[in-house]
Amino acid sequence: MQYRRCGKSGLKLPAVSLGLWHNFGHVDVLENSRKIIQLAFDNGITHFDLANNYGPPPGSAEENFGKILKDDFKSYRDELVISTKAGYHMWEGPYGEWGSKKYLVSSLDQSLKRMGLDYVDIFYHHRPDPDTPLEETMTALDLIVRQGKALYVGISNYQADEAAKAIAILKQLGTPCLIHQPKYSMFVRWVEEGLMDVLGNEGVGCIPFSPLAQGLLTNKYLKGIPADSRAAKPHGFLQEEEVSEEKVARIIKLNTLAQQRGQTLAQMALAWVLKNQRVTSVLIGVSKTEQLMDCLHSLDNLAFTAEELNLIESILA
Ligand SMILES: NC(=O)c1ccc[n+]([C@@H]2O[C@H](COP(=O)([O-])OP(=O)(O)OC[C@H]3O[C@@H](n4cnc5c(N)ncnc54)[C@H](OP(=O)(O)O)[C@@H]3O)[C@@H](O)[C@H]2O)c1
Repeated sequence: MQYRRCGKSGLKLPAVSLGLWHNFGHVDVLENSRKIIQLAFDNGITHFDLANNYGPPPGSAEENFGKILKDDFKSYRDELVISTKAGYHMWEGPYGEWGSKKYLVSSLDQSLKRMGLDYVDIFYHHRPDPDTPLEETMTALDLIVRQGKALYVGISNYQADEAAKAIAILKQLGTPCLIHQPKYSMFVRWVEEGLMDVLGNEGVGCIPFSPLAQGLLTNKYLKGIPADSRAAKPHGFLQEEEVSEEKVARIIKLNTLAQQRGQTLAQMALAWVLKNQRVTSVLIGVSKTEQLMDCLHSLDNLAFTAEELNLIESILA
């Protein structure tokens, strides 16, 4: 494993981190989830990313992760960086989503209970709230750190200008923003238009999620939609319509280039994100241990020639 410094902080993260959005809920097979987490840690993945609502049902990924921690990782807490988030809908009534202090503090208390932890390493505000003053949301993050319930804080899904404001407020409060978690892959490029510069200038780390576009940027959908894939699952967030003919045509071309580089498409897609030095870690998901090993080998070749990069741009154009 390679470890990269998170912005200008003291914390290093593995170049590949594992997220528990899919494949770790009560609808999934616990023993498979356990094997994936054990294999990840054995290969130097020290960072595991959760959120209050991961499952399904919501909360069950944290419960399962708590079970696995208790059974298998009791003596390894200090070797782990565990994150969770609040922002999306979690419980009924006006205090179960968005960005109020009431919601964030209550949600983290619930998450800690589900995981059986005294504190998380990183607590994120999961999405910007257009109605709550940003000062209130950021003050809640600062409070949570001062209470010892999180060591660091981050933001997710904030656009460049919103992120700049949040980072400035947190700095003023004395709890610097550690990291931003945006969606970024060869298929989703918005972060290149301003956000990366804000993070670079402010010394904030960046951990892109869905770097494989939920599995599209792998060899999985080259010949249709396999029955065990995220696109085929009723609770999967990847919709069948997203596996369009036009996308598959691009995927086939990218797959050919990956083969010429001696990589799988998943490995090339992760290497492409990791070539950006502002990226601290790529946050992947996997449903099988074999996928995890495949992804880890992306680190064997992160270099691209100018010709390869130009070809990728022409395929994506
Ligand atoms: N902050 C946010 O708003 C937000 C939103 C989304 C995600 N996230 C975080 O980001 C993490 C990753 O997101 P993601 O799961 O969408 O990431 P992803 O890495 O883009 O997609 C993961 C899926 O790709 C497929 N896959 C992975 N490796 C493969 C390989 N080597 N070969 C073939 N297929 C492979 C698997 O699909 P199958 O399941 O079909 O096998 C896997 O479930 C989440 O767990 C969560 O922690 C954060």
